[in-house]
Amino acid sequence: MNYNKKTVKDVEVAGRKVLLRCDFNVPMAKDGSGVITDDKRVRAALPTIQYLLDQGAAVIACSHMGKPEPSFDKWVKKQTEKGKDPASLTQEKWSKTLAELSLKPVAARLGELLGREVIMAADVVGPDAQAKAAALQPGQVLLLENTRFEKGETKNDPELAKKMAGLAGEGGVYVSDAFGAVHRAHASTAGAAQFLPAVSGFLIQKELDFIGGALASPKRPLVAILGGSKVSSKIGVINNLLEIADTIIIGGGMAYTFSAAQGGKVGDSLLEADWMDYSKEMVQKAQDKGVKLLLPVDTVCADQFAPDAKTQVVKSGEIPDGWQGLDIGPETVKLYCQAVAGAGTVIWNGPMGVFEFPAFAVGTQAVAEALSKTNAVTIIGGGDSAAAVQQLGYADKMTHISTGGGASLEFMEGKELPGVACLLDQ
Ligand code: 3PG
Repeated sequence: MNYNKKTVKDVEVAGRKVLLRCDFNVPMAKDGSGVITDDKRVRAALPTIQYLLDQGAAVIACSHMGKPEPSFDKWVKKQTEKGKDPASLTQEKWSKTLAELSLKPVAARLGELLGREVIMAADVVGPDAQAKAAALQPGQVLLLENTRFEKGETKNDPELAKKMAGLAGEGGVYVSDAFGAVHRAHASTAGAAQFLPAVSGFLIQKELDFIGGALASPKRPLVAILGGSKVSSKIGVINNLLEIADTIIIGGGMAYTFSAAQGGKVGDSLLEADWMDYSKEMVQKAQDKGVKLLLPVDTVCADQFAPDAKTQVVKSGEIPDGWQGLDIGPETVKLYCQAVAGAGTVIWNGPMGVFEFPAFAVGTQAVAEALSKTNAVTIIGGGDSAAAVQQLGYADKMTHISTGGGASLEFMEGKELPGVACLLDQ
């Protein structure tokens, strides 16, 4: 695929301030200690930041983190709806939820990785950010606070976008390298690009080259492995890949909806009854298009959703009442691994089973291992499949592991990505 957006190499950045949108939405330790448990997204931003600094730019980095509620009243409303006692919902508690989503730990980690100080702003476009951005010198890095602390961020409020762009001042440049967030049309991911010359960083270019290349001109056969729990969240991607792929492999919880749609017994397995007709349509579409659609032939089922549940292997469509399928079975593993072994390109999105429980990680592990051994180009969508490959120790064996979960999925669905569409064309 020919990448058709301008990049940081197409603009003069020396002596200019660059508003750089990154995706620093990293997983944090649950104990509130501020420890980043996986800094992959911070590392992924380094080539662009380092390049900008080497060129003599001043970098004003920004990102969201999590899903904070920036309005106290709305936070109270949402918590009350979740059943919390309104009397316990104090300003102090709300502030604590915001503090837990501060980007301060990211500033510290980024500073360590860059080997230079990263100045942290106490706000996004408030007085502290404005003063620090105004004083920023070439070769310095400033990190703004979580963009979602601003009410206008997720609404793509033009006033907020203008203020963000204004931090880069006269002659400023907007650079997006936030691949994980390009499917969001927010003030910092798309809005700010309207007010400054807007180009991409190296991460976005790399992601679109790899994923876009695999979709546009794959080495064939192209095998797409789609897993995860719900058919409903993969409709777009199944539909689009049926136009492109030679083989589509279905695993994970969504396979039970396909099975039930074909009259199979799925016991207590995850089932989206509303999507059974759709599943049938997809099977028909695959036949009409000559795409091989592989569904599990057997399944590992459990007597409860628990790591130490009793298990048995049964044929697909023969899951006894009271049992639930939690992984693909050994015959399916063989079938899927054979398909991977003969592939020219493999795109993988979504685990084959409940890989968080070792007893049900076998299918996902086997597929990951098959991918690590094949000579095919292997592209792993972000989110759960990236986490699985990493957790199982195969990360360095893959051609490309995306940093974007939702973003890579929407890209594979063939949707326009607002955070890319807003950048200048070559
Ligand atoms: C992600 O983790 O997929 C991105 O950072 C986007 O986050 P969001 O789903 O909260 O917009």
